[in-house]
Amino acid sequence: MKQEDNERILCLCLNITTGDIRRAVGAGAKTFSEVQRITRCAKSCGMCADVVKEELVRLLAEQ
Ligand code: FES
Repeated sequence: MKQEDNERILCLCLNITTGDIRRAVGAGAKTFSEVQRITRCAKSCGMCADVVKEELVRLLAEQ
């Protein structure tokens, strides 16, 4: 895994990165709701929800 991958910002409103989603998955999150509860992603404008969901699927497949 490249370092810059972890630093990629997925949620511009709340400055949430791939690394933040990765940590949420590491803490046991398996659904978008669980990731959202941990990171607060997509709680502002909501535009990032689909991108975060895609990233979650990718990270879960990596496990
Ligand atoms: S970009 Fe994530 S809530 Fe706006």
